[in-house]
Amino acid sequence: MKAERYEDAFLAVSGAVLVAFLIALFLASRMAGVHVPGRDAEIDPNAIATTPPFDSPGLRETGPGHYEAVIVGRAWTFSPSEIRIPAGSTVTFRATSGDVVHGLVVDGTRVNLMLVPGQVTVQTQRFDEPGEHLIICHEYCGVAHHTMYGKVIVQ
Ligand code: CUA
Repeated sequence: MKAERYEDAFLAVSGAVLVAFLIALFLASRMAGVHVPGRDAEIDPNAIATTPPFDSPGLRETGPGHYEAVIVGRAWTFSPSEIRIPAGSTVTFRATSGDVVHGLVVDGTRVNLMLVPGQVTVQTQRFDEPGEHLIICHEYCGVAHHTMYGKVIVQ
């Protein structure tokens, strides 16, 4: 069966797009470090209260100007709900959920995490300007979802 010329062209373009996406996937996983969480990011959702570092959620200094914010999301709060850091700090957010799927967005930054029971999600962000950023749950998690928020205060 003979295809029309424009059909050949569409097939060629579709094939080229597929190959381009495969190359992008390869580069993202091999060179940009984009990957799904591995086994090291798993946690027993029923043992959060006894599993470090989630047995004591909060902010700790890991080096000069570097902090780790260990956060547990539960319907309908973040623990801790307020994080205070000096301007110029770099914060690594390490978070999980104690019940259902929650979201964690830090307003005005690129921090955008899913808090999935049994998984630990991590993202690092630098805060240069003093000010306040809302931490918002952006995944519907029940009737009081809209009340689930916190704050990053950069001093
Ligand atoms: Cu937690 Cu919405």
